[in-house]
Amino acid sequence: MIAGKASPVSICEGPGFVYALRTVTEAGARAAYEWLGSSERGRSAKAATQAMVEELNKFPIACRVVVGDRPEGANGTVRDLDTGAQVGAGDGTRRFDIAVDPAEGTSYLAKGMTNAMAVMALTPEGTMADPGPSFYMDKFVAPPAAEGKVDPDAPVEERLNTLSRVLGKPLPELTIYVLEKPRHRELVQQIRQAGAKVALYPAGDVAGALMAAIPDSGIDALMGTGGTREGLIAACAIRAMGGVYFSRLDPQLATEKAEIEKAGLDTTVWQSVDDLVRTEEIYFVATGIATGLLFKGVKRTKTDERTETLLIAGNTGERQILTTLHRRTNPA
Ligand code: FBP
Repeated sequence: MIAGKASPVSICEGPGFVYALRTVTEAGARAAYEWLGSSERGRSAKAATQAMVEELNKFPIACRVVVGDRPEGANGTVRDLDTGAQVGAGDGTRRFDIAVDPAEGTSYLAKGMTNAMAVMALTPEGTMADPGPSFYMDKFVAPPAAEGKVDPDAPVEERLNTLSRVLGKPLPELTIYVLEKPRHRELVQQIRQAGAKVALYPAGDVAGALMAAIPDSGIDALMGTGGTREGLIAACAIRAMGGVYFSRLDPQLATEKAEIEKAGLDTTVWQSVDDLVRTEEIYFVATGIATGLLFKGVKRTKTDERTETLLIAGNTGERQILTTLHRRTNPA
């Protein structure tokens, strides 16, 4: 190695690494954007996956996808960013776990709606909890001021009263992010009865969880059941930047219930970020596809494509939103 010049492997650590990784979700978001509002759900996800794999394979790292797309290939073949896949061009010197969603909010992206993003989190190999066959999780997320103060098992009203006290906000000023799903009818009623407001979104609980953990974002907590993959991705971001996060397995599908029972997994235990992510070395990157709560989506001009990317480095807890102008290869 030439004196003073970083080796390719040493580039894969520290704050510089999260900055370098932005190219992966930026490529994914730009590829998925092609299909925004097109009703082509599968195509947007596929395009984002291909673009992200291409970028990840430029890094001298070896990644194991702990949670990604569901393997659906013939005979259970694991493709690209499916759970269980291996990605990256490294010889194994730098090994990572990865939680990834190339197009979080895919079905709503196809309808041209908000909150879709390309997102991933990397941690050193063996530090991310493997959620097994779980597909859905019940989640509770709140800002750092609520750390150690809220019991996730307490009734909704009690949790909201505690939140109101620790955040110094009267109940009517609290806004709780909930996915608009039939399974949440009772939860929504309980939140409203307690006197707080509900922000209902059809999709995107990574965005909701991050907003809930960021103080004064306009969202004071996230409650309810969403995807397990989205939960693990949000847990990485929240462990990196601070905030309260609890989740427990909450199977919704008959097949999922059976698989979870077979695997002997406990659906009563709430897990914290420390249970799910056993390191502070976290690299989190997310790029907006469609404009949502966290950042703007891809914007195309005649010559450029503009992206907004959220970067969070676990070792420092710093977060940045970076706007990048990418020169279009085929200008209009
Ligand atoms: P997709 O990317 O699969 O469309 O998921 C979007 C999402 O809203 C997630 O943010 C959320 O965790 C999950 O779906 C909830 O699942 P469901 O829509 O099946 O209730």
